[in-house]
Amino acid sequence: MRTRAAVLRELHQPWSVEEIELDPPKHGEVLVKLAASGMCHSDEHAMDGHIAGIVPPPPMIGGHEGSGVVQEVGEGVDWLEPGDHVIFGFVPACGRCPSCAAGHSNLCDEAAAFPEGTQITDHTARHHTLDGEDLTLMCLLGTFAEHTVVNEASCIKIDKDWPLDKACLFGCGVVTGWGSAVYSAGVEPGDYVAVVGCGGIGSNAIQGAKMAGARVVAAIDPIEFKREKAMEFGATHAFSSIEEAMGNLGDTTWDRGYDKVIMTMGTGDGETLGQAFNLGGKRSKIVITNLHSTAEGSIAVPAIMMTMMEKQVVGALFGSANIRKDIPRLFELYLAGQLKIDELITRTYTLDQINEGYQAMRDGENIRGVIMFD
Ligand SMILES: NC(=O)c1ccc[n+]([C@@H]2O[C@H](COP(=O)([O-])OP(=O)(O)OC[C@H]3O[C@@H](n4cnc5c(N)ncnc54)[C@H](O)[C@@H]3O)[C@@H](O)[C@H]2O)c1
Ligand SMILES: [Zn+2]
Ligand SMILES: [Zn+2]
Repeated sequence: MRTRAAVLRELHQPWSVEEIELDPPKHGEVLVKLAASGMCHSDEHAMDGHIAGIVPPPPMIGGHEGSGVVQEVGEGVDWLEPGDHVIFGFVPACGRCPSCAAGHSNLCDEAAAFPEGTQITDHTARHHTLDGEDLTLMCLLGTFAEHTVVNEASCIKIDKDWPLDKACLFGCGVVTGWGSAVYSAGVEPGDYVAVVGCGGIGSNAIQGAKMAGARVVAAIDPIEFKREKAMEFGATHAFSSIEEAMGNLGDTTWDRGYDKVIMTMGTGDGETLGQAFNLGGKRSKIVITNLHSTAEGSIAVPAIMMTMMEKQVVGALFGSANIRKDIPRLFELYLAGQLKIDELITRTYTLDQINEGYQAMRDGENIRGVIMFD
C-alpha cells in the first residue's frame, strides 16, 4: 500500500514528508494505522548524528513514541486483531530473552536490531521509497508515518476506551521519565531529588519522584516556561542552572546533597554530568537518562568521590521499566487523575508540520509536541 512518512534523508537535514510504499505484515508482524506520535528528543539525536551506530543510517523513517489501531496481522499473531488499539514500546519486549525473563524487558535482546532498523524476524524492510529503496525504522517503529508495520513484540494492547491521542506518550516519555525516578533512581519517601532538564522526559521524572514520596524535587532548567511547568508537575523548587542549585543546597537538602540526581537534559555531556555529580550527597545515585553522543569518550566524574561518598552513577534505558506491566498501570494512574498527561502536550501538529514541531522543541517552547493523524 501507499502511505506517508517523515523520512530522514540525510543527517542534519529537515524531515522529508513523502509518500512511501509499505508491504503487508509478514509472520509475527502487525500493520498499524497511527493515531498520534510524540516528538521525543531522541529523534533529534538521530538527525544530528549524536547516536550514530545505535540508530540506522539514513534513509530512515523517524518516530518511536506512537499509538494507533491495528489494521492487519501477519501469520502467527493470535493475540491482536484488526480494530485493536495499541501503544508501541520503543524497545520491543519479546518475553523470551534472558533480560525479559529476568523482568528487565527494557533491555530486551531484540533491541540488538536497532542499528539495522529492519524487521526483527528476517532482517528485511517492509518500508520502501517509491523508487524501491529500502527505508529503515527508528527503534524498529517509524511512528512518523500514517501507517507502519512492526513486530508484535513492540505492541502493547490497550483498552479501546482509553484516549489514543494521549496514549502515544506512554511509548517513551512517560515511562522513561517516571521509571527513571521510581525504578532507576529508586526514589524513596523523604528523598531529596534533583531533575536536570525539564522537557518531556524530565517532567515525568518529576511526577515519578513526587509519587514515590520525595520530600524535595528540585527542577533545573534554563528556560523559565519549563520551570513553571515543573512546579505544576510537582517540583518543590526550581533553579535555572546546576550552579544555582549548588548555591541553594542549604535550603533544599540541609547541605547534605541530593539523594537522587536524574539527568534528563536535551543532550547529555560529560562536563555537565561532572557538575551534576556534585549535587549528589553521600550514597546518592546519579541517573543518566539523557543521551550523550556516541562520539564522547569520557565523562568528568571524580572517581575518588564515588569511593569516599559511596556515590553511584547509573544508566537508565526506558526508565528500567517493563512495558507490559507498566504501561497499563501508568495509564490507569492517569485515568484515576494521579498522573498528569494532558498537561504534557503543549502543541499538536500535522505530519506535514513536523519540522515546525522540532523547531519549537529546539526553541524550548514545548514540553511535548505531538503529531496527530486523522
Ligand atoms: N534513556 C532513555 O531511555 C531515553 C528515552 C527517551 C529520551 N531520552 C533522552 O532524554 C533526553 C531528554 O529528552 P526530552 O525529549 O525530554 O528532551 P526535551 O528537549 O524535551 O527536554 C530537554 C530539556 O533540557 C533542558 N536543558 C538543556 N540544557 C540544560 C542544562 N544544561 N541544564 C538543565 N537543563 C537543560 C532544556 O531546556 C529542555 O527543557 C534526551 O537526551 C533524549 O534523547 C532517553
Ligand atoms: Zn523517546
Ligand atoms: Zn526480550
